[in-house]
Amino acid sequence: MIHLTQSPTEDAFVQNPYPFYDRARREGPFFRWTDYDLPCTASAAAVNAILRDRRFGREAPSEHAVVPPERLAPFYAVEAHSMLELEPPRHTRLRSIVLRAFTSRRIAALAPEIEALSHGLIDQLPPAGADLLKTFAQPLPVIIIARLLGVPESMAPDLLRWSNAMVKMYMAGRTRAMEDEAVAATRDFVAFMRGYVDARRDDPRDDLITHLIQAEMDGDRLSIDELITTCILLLNAGHEATVHTIGNGVKTLLETDAARNCLDPERIDATVEEILRFDPPLHLFTRWAYDEVEVMGHTFHRGDQVGLLLGAANRDPDAWEDPFRFDPSRPTRANLSFGAGIHFCVGAPLARLELKIALPILFARLPNLSLAGRPRYANVYHFHGLEALNVQLG
Ligand code: HEM
Repeated sequence: MIHLTQSPTEDAFVQNPYPFYDRARREGPFFRWTDYDLPCTASAAAVNAILRDRRFGREAPSEHAVVPPERLAPFYAVEAHSMLELEPPRHTRLRSIVLRAFTSRRIAALAPEIEALSHGLIDQLPPAGADLLKTFAQPLPVIIIARLLGVPESMAPDLLRWSNAMVKMYMAGRTRAMEDEAVAATRDFVAFMRGYVDARRDDPRDDLITHLIQAEMDGDRLSIDELITTCILLLNAGHEATVHTIGNGVKTLLETDAARNCLDPERIDATVEEILRFDPPLHLFTRWAYDEVEVMGHTFHRGDQVGLLLGAANRDPDAWEDPFRFDPSRPTRANLSFGAGIHFCVGAPLARLELKIALPILFARLPNLSLAGRPRYANVYHFHGLEALNVQLG
């Protein structure tokens, strides 16, 4: 396996990681990314195979589990109940409780609200131009996930602040200050959720929190800590990635001048899939091997970890014709932006609905929308999203 060195915080890589992925992929299905000291894959076939293989998973094998330092304990106490960090049987239990509440009927019912909110946000844009990330891409998914869960919309700024601080735990080059902020945000978020869930026990409504509370009260199905973690997971996962898919997508549409003709109702589904494929917001997820497993000529042993480069897999020429071209007319096939296998994104139908409604409204309302300068990606790998999306409206 070839060794490749690439700092995940180097500006050229942050701005455009795809040439590095391409180079890595040309060397074979796996390479050792020395900066992470991790075997990784940029191959769509390998990423797909490992995500679907139950001999790999997110939870560390027991003999590799590390006890986090005391000062980070509040953060990891929340993670300990997160379906995203667990494997069956706990994962199955938590995920099925959420899926029972997160029905397609409830998601589809949000369409009119997403539409009205998109219009409302556009109405408030200053005519001289705006940062669409702050004024459109961010508030839309935050407000929608808050409403779906049943958390007051007035909490949106706090949710954003807490969530932004917490995701720093997954960023390359994380510092002591970032860790301290993440722990402080976790404490505040947990304290809010604990108080809120308590208050809402006697105030049932038709929202996700009520359903999750009832699931808890039906027996020993969801403990209070699991309930709080699940709400935090949904609130965090429910906007971070969608914000940056909207941002990256609007940028791509404006840069390729493809926007005007690929957002009509017959083409929007394919356009949204191509936006997700072309420049996804989450690039690197890891898995542990639980057994000896051979994948495309490489043997993993129990306790080995592997990095799966979703953004790279989506541009694998073995899986996609002319993968570097943004082509909303390409035949729709599953890409890896939402993952695959048992951890496949719970929120994919909601994220897709938000994109399908918000993007056509944005471009129809602002027919002269154009970029004001070249947008820059933030130095936050493995997240891949813009610092700002400054645009002119007229
Ligand atoms: C475009 C937006 C989104 C993207 C690209 C995205 C991407 C992903 C990916 C790649 C995973 C799997 C991670 C892994 O396998 O290790 C995942 C899991 C998850 N996502 Fe999303 N997501 C998005 C939006 C959402 C939304 C809107 C919600 C909630 C409403 C959500 C909730 C979750 C949850 C709860 C999981 C964990 C599922 C499990 O472990 O079984 N996501 N997401």
